[in-house]
Amino acid sequence: MLSFKSLATVATLAFGALSAVAAPAPQSHGAGVAVAAGLKHTRDTQVVGVAQIIQTTTVTLTPVVQKLQFINTQNCTVDAITPVVNDIKGILGDAVTQVNALVGAATSDILAGVDGAAAVTVTDLAKLLGDLLTLVFTALGAVLAVVGQVGGDVAAAVTPLLQAVGELVGSLLHAVLALVGGLLGGLIPAVLALVGDVLSVIAKLQINVLISVFGIQL
Ligand SMILES: *[C@@H]1O[C@H](CO)[C@@H](O)[C@H](O)[C@H]1NC(C)=O
Repeated sequence: MLSFKSLATVATLAFGALSAVAAPAPQSHGAGVAVAAGLKHTRDTQVVGVAQIIQTTTVTLTPVVQKLQFINTQNCTVDAITPVVNDIKGILGDAVTQVNALVGAATSDILAGVDGAAAVTVTDLAKLLGDLLTLVFTALGAVLAVVGQVGGDVAAAVTPLLQAVGELVGSLLHAVLALVGGLLGGLIPAVLALVGDVLSVIAKLQINVLISVFGIQL
């Protein structure tokens, strides 16, 4: 944990470096630019642990996932769903890459709290993961319900798209568990306790990695 003094030193150094860069700016604005840049610099160098990765991923996913959540019989088509699914897969794939990049990092970095807070607890991380799983699988469940109304060929075409999303969520949870499982005991039961509402969707889509992680009885 950095002391206030060392944080202040870092900020001063950042300010100095960026003031030099910002020097050509008009005098009246120069200081403001440098201060803003200095603040941004401090934030950028903050350690991004697994908790921050998951939280940012959920925030990024939310508006995209809503397109599935609010799907209706008119736009429940492969053409409408495919680009949304591809966006979601891109966001989840980035998250898996970021989590895997933490393998071998210092424990204090891996478990760094959100927005520079103290180390994340099992309860905190379970909540972040539970929120992400609930967000995505609630939306996939909404699509499944509409697919059920539309019936016919749509179900056969759309279900694999939903499964691909579910499997990537499984890969992300798997990567997190591989990273922190040895550091935070009891994470799986803590997440399981929060995702009861979407277990039926996970089972229906047959997301094997999650079925096995959570020990869902089919
Ligand atoms: C389907 O239409 C609803 C209502 O306009 C909209 O909220 C939703 O984002 C649309 N979803 C897709 C996948 O186009």
